Amino acid sequence: MAKVDEQIQINSHKHKKMFIGVVWNCPGEIKLLLSALLFLCSIITVFQFFPSYIRDLRDCAAVPPPLRIQNKKLDDVVLDNGVIKRNFKGYGSAAYNFILMSAYRGGGDTFAVVGLSSKPLHLFARPTYVCEWVPHPATGNNKNISVEGYKILPDWGYGRVYTVVVVNCTFPFPIGEDGSGGQLLVHASTSGGGDTDFDVSDTVEALVEAPGSFHASQLDVPPKYEYLYCGSPLYGDLSPQRVREWIAYHVNLFGERSHFVIHDAGGVHRDVMEVLRPWIEKGYVTLQDIKEEERFDGYYHNQFLVVNDCLHRYRFVAKWMFFFDVDEFIYVPKETTIKDVTDSLLGYTQFSIEQRTMSNKLCYLDDDPGNIYRKWGIEKMVYKDTKRGIRRDRKYAIQPRNVFATGVHMSQNLKGKTMHTMDGKIIYYHYHGTISERREPCRQLVNTTTENADGTPYVVDTTMREAAGAVKRFELRTIGPVLLKTRQ
Ligand SMILES: *[C@@H]1O[C@H](CO)[C@@H](O)[C@H](O)[C@H]1NC(C)=O
Ligand SMILES: *[C@@H]1O[C@H](CO)[C@@H](O)[C@H](O)[C@H]1NC(C)=O
Ligand SMILES: *[C@@H]1O[C@H](CO)[C@@H](O)[C@H](O)[C@H]1NC(C)=O
Repeated sequence: MAKVDEQIQINSHKHKKMFIGVVWNCPGEIKLLLSALLFLCSIITVFQFFPSYIRDLRDCAAVPPPLRIQNKKLDDVVLDNGVIKRNFKGYGSAAYNFILMSAYRGGGDTFAVVGLSSKPLHLFARPTYVCEWVPHPATGNNKNISVEGYKILPDWGYGRVYTVVVVNCTFPFPIGEDGSGGQLLVHASTSGGGDTDFDVSDTVEALVEAPGSFHASQLDVPPKYEYLYCGSPLYGDLSPQRVREWIAYHVNLFGERSHFVIHDAGGVHRDVMEVLRPWIEKGYVTLQDIKEEERFDGYYHNQFLVVNDCLHRYRFVAKWMFFFDVDEFIYVPKETTIKDVTDSLLGYTQFSIEQRTMSNKLCYLDDDPGNIYRKWGIEKMVYKDTKRGIRRDRKYAIQPRNVFATGVHMSQNLKGKTMHTMDGKIIYYHYHGTISERREPCRQLVNTTTENADGTPYVVDTTMREAAGAVKRFELRTIGPVLLKTRQ
């Protein structure tokens, strides 16, 4: 939090003749008056009444006022002992202190605020967060409640200019319950991280609840969906045919009580939209346009930001949430169902899913070679990499009500147990890179059941090919023939 006394001392300090504009949390007229006064005061610093005057007025601020630092060229000073004291001038700020994506309730007393923040600030300093609940004026309750928010940095240090921050605001008792309404503010403070002379604090209006909009009982209902897929950002020139196979396959796998949240960072071009539309119309897919995130340089189109938004946004409508990519296909052995797997893991908050790496170039030419280009990717790309360990690069599923933040390969902020040894009860086939190009994936047609390509040994695995027929029939049955003419 900004310490006002310290700010004022700075004004009278000989070597730091910075202009400081302080914006208070006061009614507009007072704010205007103050701004004018401050401006006046700061250029005529000889006025004796300045510090005490400010101290009297600042009492109208309940929330520590955010600091705006205006920079001025400072001269170097020759000290009495002849030493030259050098000065430094800061201009602007290169990364935002906080970028809000979303805030959600996690219960009567707890909230998650999802956003980005300057990565070096988090790496090299200790920015802090204070959460404040402001009751709706109609309640007649003017007692604000503040608690320290705790921050989770879920992106394993992968961030770039920005890192992902989930601020967990947990109050000592339920607030805004019974639909009384209010406002959640988060005061994000640099705590001297950007300039040790300043504790710059920005106030983020994270969430506004209109009276009547929230009742704790809303969160206490059985989840609408058994399975919800949280997708990573889609970008680039994606192949409509690969997306078509992926969505039909997984709606068939996860069943009627499933839902897919797809995040478009520029990858859902017109032809991909055509492929998704029938499933959107059937209520299986929600498309989120997140292209604005491209303005902020984070890891992989802000993948970690998006999955955390998805977690908290859908936390109470899904019993299980799955996190994997659109070039990956979840598989459970033929004699079982996905529900058998998840039902056997109800005592676990999280389980991980092992990878089978498939060649993204080799195609199998055993029967009907003339028709190879009309086959689905999962029918013809059947060469499994035997060199890479199957444990490499896991994906995962969680019961989201027990999870507070999440990642790409696992969640590390949860309560309850994690199961890592699934012994083949559930795996995923990974066709790396096949989705990101709009062209025929087959580069090399081969006849043999084992193959060496670029030093990697492959063996034929027709599991997915055998599943394809049922998926094609399912697609036809569910959405009709609209996608039969889909191209690569
Ligand atoms: C509570 O916070 C709001 C918003 O910052 C502010 O306008 C109000 O004066 C505060 N109330 C009290 C009693 O401090
Ligand atoms: C915040 O963290 C606490 C555990 O420290 C947890 O009980 C609560 O559910 C979390 N809130 C959210 C919204 O994730
Ligand atoms: C694969 O086998 C078929 C049938 O035996 C044969 O006609 C074809 O030439 C073979 N192709 C390759 C690439 O070896």
